[in-house]
Amino acid sequence: MKTREHKAEILAHKRIDERVQLMTLAFPAPCAVPGQFVMVKAGVGGDPLLRRPISIHRRTKTGIELLYEVVGQGTALLAALRPGAEVSIIGPLGNGFPLVAAKGRTPVLVGGGMGAAPLVFLAEHLTAAASIKQPVALLGAHTKKGLLCVKAFRTAGCRVITATDDGSCGRRGFVSCLLKELLESTARENAVIYSCGPRPMLNSIYELADTAGVAAYVSLEAHMACGIGACLGCTVATTAGNKRVCKDGPVFAAQEILWGQADEN
Ligand SMILES: Cc1cc2nc3c(=O)[nH]c(=O)nc-3n(C[C@H](O)[C@H](O)[C@H](O)COP(=O)(O)OP(=O)(O)OC[C@H]3O[C@@H](n4cnc5c(N)ncnc54)[C@H](O)[C@@H]3O)c2cc1C
Ligand code: FES
Repeated sequence: MKTREHKAEILAHKRIDERVQLMTLAFPAPCAVPGQFVMVKAGVGGDPLLRRPISIHRRTKTGIELLYEVVGQGTALLAALRPGAEVSIIGPLGNGFPLVAAKGRTPVLVGGGMGAAPLVFLAEHLTAAASIKQPVALLGAHTKKGLLCVKAFRTAGCRVITATDDGSCGRRGFVSCLLKELLESTARENAVIYSCGPRPMLNSIYELADTAGVAAYVSLEAHMACGIGACLGCTVATTAGNKRVCKDGPVFAAQEILWGQADEN
């Protein structure tokens, strides 16, 4: 059932900036959990052949939202689609963030660049749960323009702290510096980290969390062909052998990843 193809109408398609688009699809997915993704067919016919994985950014009563950056052929084709058009999707796929880990704790959401996209769904889920403390969202990007979803995290009820490489918004430096400071304070007690972003950033998050003895979960990216665990094209080296990012992940406990070997995909 999960891997069935769905045709979903585009209800809205907004340009957020020159490279980032927000697509709303008429695809009610009541069972979708934060961290899951869909495989989207870009274009018609066989070009491009492979679907593209995009995280569920938000879930509404009538559908899902995808927040994506235009980086190549597939995402450019998606960006050209207008409301009323249909896209073929498969999903929701993958495991999602372990929400139970946040019970009685302070969730710390760390998003780098586009990595903020799936964390908004997570923030909305966490702030709706009674037994979970107010989440902190640490957001980083190269520049102010690249900082995504700041308002959405605030609206969801998070405390938001930002960092940019050039200092154009928030603290100058990497988002991992914000996490380091937070983990050096008393706030680390009872914290749990959920993170999504570029691989080097996730590696730093793992090292900081490991040093502080705090549980951390990372959402990994990999080039995907099937998205459903069949082709073994998305494997990542873990302490328990190779795992498939699409089927066993994309979310993994950070200490499970063999970081030195994790970037082969
Ligand atoms: C589980 C998962 C969830 C994702 N969620 C989102 C999301 O919410 N928003 C978003 O903008 N992007 C997301 N991505 C990345 C997105 O899938 C790629 O950017 C997209 O497939 C690129 O397709 P394209 O045809 O436009 O680019 P291509 O022409 O295929 O590639 C253009 C450039 O992007 C790089 N690229 C392609 N795919 C990936 C990838 N999977 N990871 C890293 N670099 C890649 C290529 O190496 C190349 O440099 C996600 C990826 C995964 C695996
Ligand atoms: S993309 Fe085929 S197994 Fe993951």
